[in-house]
Amino acid sequence: MTERYVLAIDQGTTSTRCILFDRRATVVSMVRAEHPQSYPRPGWVEHDAARIWRDVKRLLARVLRDAGVESSQVAAIGIANQRETVVVWDRESGVPVAPAIVWQDTRTESLVAQLPNISEITGLPPATYFSATKLQWLLDNGLRERAIRGEILFGTMDSWLLWNLTGRHVTDVTNASRTMLMNLSTLDWDDELLSLFGIPRAILPEIRSSSEIYGFSSVLPGVPIAAAMGDQQAALFGQTCFAPGEAKCTYGTGGFLLMNTGVVPVRSRHGLITTVGYRIGDEKPVFALEGSIAIAGSLVQWLRDGLGLISTASEIETLAGTVGDNGGCYIVPAFSGLYAPYWHSEARGVIVGLTSYITKSHLARAVLEATGFQTRDVVDAMNADSGLTLTGLNVDGGMTADNLLMQIVADVLDVPVVRPMVAETVSLGAAYAAGLAVGYWSDLRDLRANRHPAGRWTPALDPDRRAAEYTSWRRAVECAVFYGQV
Ligand SMILES: Nc1ncnc2c1ncn2[C@@H]1O[C@H](COP(=O)(O)OP(=O)(O)OP(=O)(O)O)[C@@H](O)[C@H]1O
Ligand SMILES: [Mg+2]
Repeated sequence: MTERYVLAIDQGTTSTRCILFDRRATVVSMVRAEHPQSYPRPGWVEHDAARIWRDVKRLLARVLRDAGVESSQVAAIGIANQRETVVVWDRESGVPVAPAIVWQDTRTESLVAQLPNISEITGLPPATYFSATKLQWLLDNGLRERAIRGEILFGTMDSWLLWNLTGRHVTDVTNASRTMLMNLSTLDWDDELLSLFGIPRAILPEIRSSSEIYGFSSVLPGVPIAAAMGDQQAALFGQTCFAPGEAKCTYGTGGFLLMNTGVVPVRSRHGLITTVGYRIGDEKPVFALEGSIAIAGSLVQWLRDGLGLISTASEIETLAGTVGDNGGCYIVPAFSGLYAPYWHSEARGVIVGLTSYITKSHLARAVLEATGFQTRDVVDAMNADSGLTLTGLNVDGGMTADNLLMQIVADVLDVPVVRPMVAETVSLGAAYAAGLAVGYWSDLRDLRANRHPAGRWTPALDPDRRAAEYTSWRRAVECAVFYGQV
């Protein structure tokens, strides 16, 4: 019998990956392409959606060629994607009518400041992060007439790729839950929100589950497109966090901690997001609480590209490892404001505690520690909201290659940190959801059996020092918030 596989597309903020998995969740072949980040003005971040689609097509062909696998051997394709990013395209020609506005973009700060309280409907705090004000901005800036005439379509990145792959205008419910246009109780677009943002329903995709056959690929003929999920929800699924209370944190461009809360949405009282975790076919949706950190790995990229203090991301570990502590220096990377649990759109980054003693090694260490402290902020909120105490943290993503960072996270949180064998959990989650939809895997137990921890870090920091360091971090956060207000 010929071996069969499942293919995942991970359309991320900085790059797109295509990964071929076998039944035991082994990576058979992986290809990746970076795409340009465009920063036309301070606070603006844009992508070229047409370019991203061309990358996807090219990578799909290449991943199969590299593995010597025919498209007839692919049981299904699943998509995981950067969330909230807004794409608008021409219904007839399929050409994007504006640059895609990326989730990190803060151009809509003034629109957000005018919002009434809609958190009860959406599960989201008011922030530039989500799609609604970005779409509103595009319509306000020249596209409203075309939207009313029904000439253009809106979608998040999943929807854009699904439209190109299958010709259908659909989205999955996890992505829809990040637009700020979906009602978390009905799981449908909300008329009150649509009129608030001035968005005609006709331009919106149909909301579907995360795991079902949406259509068949134009690129690999005959292969079903059978899953779509926001990348962070996909990582939750890929880490097989199927039971309430199970959580993971993914460290890529940003950092995203999600905890499965079961079939009932839990409303946060401590600055977290209530979001859809996943929905398998007609089953009940599973919800999650999320703590979103805007800047994690991208601070390492800034140290490399913005400051030129390192030449590759992995050099940060060596540099930071030359000093035993931060020398009193803290960096709060509020480049796009502060997300969870603070939600200050106007906060801006600060470096505090500078003396002539501080070297680039201390800065490197402060960069890694910023990720640790931001995780602590989110974990404290998660514990308070869920009434549970996190006893360990499952991690994944590109930054988890950094062993020093993993130790810092364990030290700051005072819980063990565990990394799985397959670090590409975003892709794995998309593959799992697609494989389930076509019967490649039979149920969640099948998926659980593939879970293998590969690295573990235990806390080794003196409790007094942990407390003192965290207090200093919170003071630095106050500086970042204060700076945004002056
Ligand atoms: N050894 C390392 N130490 C610290 N950070 C690292 C290391 N290696 C990579 N990174 C950071 O991790 C990030 C890449 O992680 P990953 O590949 O998971 O991101 P990504 O999936 O491309 O992100 P996104 O999906 O948001 O595009 C980069 O921001 C990079 O700076
Ligand atoms: Mg990613």
